[in-house]
Amino acid sequence: MVQSPMSRKLARNGGLFYPVIGFALFVTFLYLAFGDLWGFNFNREEIKLSFVERNGTQFFVDGKAFYINGWNSYWLMDHAVDYSNRPRIKGILQAGAKMGLTVCRTWAFNDGGYNALQISPGRFDERVFRALDHVIAEARKNGIRLMLSLVNNLHAFGGKTEYVKWAEKEGVALSSSNDSFFYDPTIRRYFKNYVKTVLTRRNIYTGMEYRDDPTIFAWELINEPRCMTDPSGDTLQDWIEEMSTFVKSIDRKHLLTVGLEGFYGRKSPKRSSGNPEFWAADLGSDFIRNSMLSTIDFASVHVYPDHWFHDKKFEEKLKFAAKWMLSHIEDGDKELRKPIMFTEFGLSNENEDFEPAQRDRFYKMVLDFIYKSAKRNRSGAGSFFWQFLVEGMELYNDDFGIVPWERPSTYQLITEQSCRLAKEHGVLPTQMEHLKDFCASTRL
Ligand SMILES: *[C@@H]1O[C@H](CO)[C@@H](O)[C@H](O)[C@H]1NC(C)=O
Ligand SMILES: *[C@@H]1O[C@H](CO)[C@@H](O)[C@H](O)[C@H]1NC(C)=O
Ligand SMILES: *[C@@H]1O[C@H](CO)[C@@H](O)[C@H](O)[C@H]1NC(C)=O
Repeated sequence: MVQSPMSRKLARNGGLFYPVIGFALFVTFLYLAFGDLWGFNFNREEIKLSFVERNGTQFFVDGKAFYINGWNSYWLMDHAVDYSNRPRIKGILQAGAKMGLTVCRTWAFNDGGYNALQISPGRFDERVFRALDHVIAEARKNGIRLMLSLVNNLHAFGGKTEYVKWAEKEGVALSSSNDSFFYDPTIRRYFKNYVKTVLTRRNIYTGMEYRDDPTIFAWELINEPRCMTDPSGDTLQDWIEEMSTFVKSIDRKHLLTVGLEGFYGRKSPKRSSGNPEFWAADLGSDFIRNSMLSTIDFASVHVYPDHWFHDKKFEEKLKFAAKWMLSHIEDGDKELRKPIMFTEFGLSNENEDFEPAQRDRFYKMVLDFIYKSAKRNRSGAGSFFWQFLVEGMELYNDDFGIVPWERPSTYQLITEQSCRLAKEHGVLPTQMEHLKDFCASTRL
C-alpha cells in the first residue's frame, strides 16, 4: 500500500496522542475505502504501471479492455537533450495526461546528424540516451505509456538513408539505393545491433532496462516502411520477419507493430477497392501480409487524405478516410484477428480550401470510429493525432501540428473521447485524478 502523505506526516510528528492516532486511522480507512477510486493519495513517484497485453482483437490492461486516445509528439528525445528544453517534455506529457490521453507515440531514433543517438553503427551518444531515459521516466510519472519507433523510412532524423551511407563509407553496400537498408546483410546487422542496444538500455533515472519497463506500450519497427525497388513486397516481408523475430528474441513482454501506412499490396484482393489510388499497391508494402506475421501483435495504419489526393475536395477526402478506416477495422476483425491502431491521422493546413473547423470534423470522424469500435468490442483499438506541440515550437511544426489547448472546440473533442472510452471499458488508475475533473456528466 502506498502511504498517504497525510498519514506519513502524522506518523513523523512524534509525541502521538490518541486523537491523532484516531485521525490517522480514519485517514487510512478513507484511503482504503476510496483512495484508489479518487486517487486523492496519488503518489506521483511510485506510479505502478502494468504491461499492456493483447487477447485476440483487443488490448487489455489489468484484465480490462483498453481502447486508446493517443497522440504523436515525435520531438521528445530530441528536445530533452538540451536541459533548457526539458520543460517542454513535461509540458506535453502533463497536458496529455490532463486530457485523459493514455499513449504517446514518439521517435526512439536519431541516426547520424545533429544530436544523433546513434552517431555511427554501434556508436551511441550517452547524452542523447539520457534524454530518452528522461522522456520515459517523465512519461511514467504522468501515467502516459509510450509507443517507441526504432527507425525512419523517411530522411528526417537519419532514417534508412543514413544506414546506407554508413555502409557505403565502410565499402560494404552493394547498391546506392536507400532500399538496400532492407536487403543488405551488413545493414541488417547494423539495425539489429541498434535494436538490441535500445531494448537492453538501462534507464539511469528508473534503473530499469527498457525491455522490462511497462511505461513502453509497444515497439514499432520502422516509421512508414516502403521498399519501392521490390514492389512484389517480398523484400520488405522478409525484413519484417527477421526483425520482428529478433525483437521478440530479446523482449517478449512488449507488444510489437510494423509502422505501416496501411496500403494493400499487389497481391491483395483489396489493392484497387481499398487503396487511395493505383500507385499505393506498388510501394513494396502490404498491410495484410505484413501484419499477419505471428511476431506482430497489432497492425498500424496512417490516415492522410491530404497526402494521398491532390485534386479532391474536403468532403471527398473525408468520405475516403471513413472508408479507409472501416476497411482496416474489418481486416482486423476478420482477416488478422488483431487490434488495429490508427497511429497517425492529420489534416494539412496548406490546402486551398482549409479552415480550422475541417480539422474538428475530420478528428471527430476518426474518434467516432474508435468509440464505436470500443462499444462493440471490435478491433479498431486506438487513434493517435499527428501531431501535438507546445507553444513556441513553430520551427518543429509541419502543416499538421496543433497546440491542442489553443482551440477550445478541438480540446473538447479530445477530452470527450477520453471520457466516453473510459465509460465503456473503465478508467486506468493513472487517469482517475484527471478524468474526474472533466467527465462530470459521465458516470465512471
Ligand atoms: C482470451 O480471450 C478468450 C475468449 O474471450 C478467453 O477464453 C481466454 O482465456 C483469454 N486469454 C487470456 C490469456 O486472457
Ligand atoms: C531514396 O532514394 C531515392 C532514389 O535515389 C530518392 O528519390 C529518395 O528521395 C530517397 N528517399 C529517402 C527517404 O531518402
Ligand atoms: C464487450 O466486452 C465486455 C467485457 O468483455 C462485455 O461486458 C460487453 O458486454 C461486450 N460488449 C458487446 C457489445 O459485446
